[in-house]
Amino acid sequence: MTTRGRFDAVTITLHWLTVILFVPLISSVLLLNNASGLDAATLLDIHRGTGATLFAVTLARLCWRQSFARLPPFPEKMWSVHRLMVTGSEYALYALLLAQPLTGLAMTLFHGRPFTLILWQVPALVARNKDLAAWLHGIHETAAYALLALVGGHATAALIHHYLLRDDVLSAMLPLVQPGRRGDEACVQIVPSGSAHRAKRNRTGPASI
Ligand code: HEM
Ligand code: HEM
Repeated sequence: MTTRGRFDAVTITLHWLTVILFVPLISSVLLLNNASGLDAATLLDIHRGTGATLFAVTLARLCWRQSFARLPPFPEKMWSVHRLMVTGSEYALYALLLAQPLTGLAMTLFHGRPFTLILWQVPALVARNKDLAAWLHGIHETAAYALLALVGGHATAALIHHYLLRDDVLSAMLPLVQPGRRGDEACVQIVPSGSAHRAKRNRTGPASI
């Protein structure tokens, strides 16, 4: 029995960095409802800072994915519809991870007040526009729910693969895990020698239907 092989170290690092950044990003807005004064300002600083960092990480991730990344090929028996769903949901995740910080930043700008972005004190760059800021807030909020739903489904699918189907989908993305099918100590991993690009193209190779 062979395995699909693993994602490369950079992809794995950027993937789990994204997950780590999500913790302060989301908990800061959850706590915001119960905060006031300085607390609220600090929480918003954390939210904006982690959101902007996540934007940079996502851009780096996409550039890496399109160039040197090693993506394990999909299992040969995987149906085309399933492949399409996985690929589609991954690109939807990327799209939302890039769009969210932009709507968040635009909303903040149209509040027409100076604000802190990581270490940068940003002055009021545009005139206050309450209606536009409120409209952008609506988009930011709705897209955040869509992103959270997608992330929830994505993580659930990974856990189902790991604990119920007992395959190597999750271990391919885990750091510090020996490659190999879970529970199959004797399996041999066959990784195409030296060609990240070949492995990547295999990902969208022939499907069973
Ligand atoms: C992937 C990145 C991001 C995600 C997932 C995200 C998610 C959220 C969520 C869930 C809320 C709460 C919505 C509500 O119920 O009001 C929120 C609010 C907000 N976000 Fe983001 N956000 C991201 C990035 C950013 C960035 C980069 C900025 C600014 C530079 C930003 C600025 C704001 C502001 C100003 C609010 C309104 C807070 C308030 O209620 O006063 N967000 N965001
Ligand atoms: C903030 C939360 C998350 C985001 C935004 C996210 C995003 C992504 C994206 C875009 C990919 C595609 C591969 C790539 O281009 O790097 C991916 C792959 C993957 N993720 Fe996540 N992920 C998140 C959380 C999780 C969690 C919590 C788990 C595990 C419980 C997980 C397990 C996986 C696995 C196993 C793959 C590889 C799937 C495959 O073989 O195609 N992810 N993730």
